[in-house]
Amino acid sequence: RNIVVLFGGQSSEHEISCISAVTIMKNINKDKYNIYPVGITKEGNWRIYHGKIEDLTVDTWVGNSNNAIISPDATDKSLIIFKEDGIVKLDVDIVFPALHGLYGEDGSVQGLLELAGIPYVGCGILASSVSMDKLFTKVIVDRLGIRQAKYVPVYKKEMDDIKEVVAKIERQLEYPVFVKPSNAGSSKGITKAHNRGELFDGLELAIKHDSKLLIEETIVGREVECAVLGNYHPRTSNVGEIISAAEFYDYDSKYNDIGSKTIINPDVPKDTVKRIRDCAEQIFRAVDGRGLARADFFIESETGEVIFNEINTLPGFTSISMYPMLWEDKGMSNEELVDRLIEFAFN
Ligand code: DAL
Ligand code: MG
Repeated sequence: RNIVVLFGGQSSEHEISCISAVTIMKNINKDKYNIYPVGITKEGNWRIYHGKIEDLTVDTWVGNSNNAIISPDATDKSLIIFKEDGIVKLDVDIVFPALHGLYGEDGSVQGLLELAGIPYVGCGILASSVSMDKLFTKVIVDRLGIRQAKYVPVYKKEMDDIKEVVAKIERQLEYPVFVKPSNAGSSKGITKAHNRGELFDGLELAIKHDSKLLIEETIVGREVECAVLGNYHPRTSNVGEIISAAEFYDYDSKYNDIGSKTIINPDVPKDTVKRIRDCAEQIFRAVDGRGLARADFFIESETGEVIFNEINTLPGFTSISMYPMLWEDKGMSNEELVDRLIEFAFN
């Protein structure tokens, strides 16, 4: 069978996607699948990668690839690939979108694959777009009665009068607050504002990433994550804890700071773990999840309460990523995990 692995992409998480894709491709069962890696440049050019999987790096992959225009054809579930040297029709059995963020994790690539009639790993259009959009996730999770940080939405048009935006936020929340683009991954564009000056700066930065923002109260507590695997009756993992080297787990402390740590199975009361797993499963089902997701929570210091933070439908597969580690803890190797993810896409 033929599997296309999509990587790179136009989002601010292009680099992370390249790393995730290498882990995923290394762990695909080569006896069962022929792998066709297809990279997407930051500008949105689709290219067929010819190099070795282990040689694929952010800086070199484009040089090892050919331009391709890919067109979906649902009549025979194939992708027609127009290459520099002619037209090729590739019967694609399945696609693994190893992409993060905008145009990868938000339902748009999923829509293209629906048009092509080709099965793909992970969540469909709705679950992807709802989960990518932090404001919409809030609305859904509110309905489940699961606690979340208090928040104030801000729309681009309102930013014409930024002083009024700041006043609106100050009426509803106390400093410090988090300023987040509604759609963004790996904490890009997110800042913590301790005062009015930082709030102004944070708003200006975040609005460069998205036309919708959300400003959240700061939860004082531990940051934990839970992995979900499966379709309607998914399995959930134990929890993993993030010990951030910075004041919060931003892009740099995630990927560039060796001081950040992840702990699998940290010391957390049993009933709290149960509550987290329960919430992760409920949220996954509520957003119409499929295949995989990682749900992120806080355990509030003062109350011990579980507070939902966000759900990621294409969580990272880097060497420091929690999703594969949480399954290893359950005795599932990366190879087995990737195989199951692919199998779930056929069911
Ligand atoms: N958005 C990154 C890849 C994650 O959630 O792991
Ligand atoms: Mg995320």
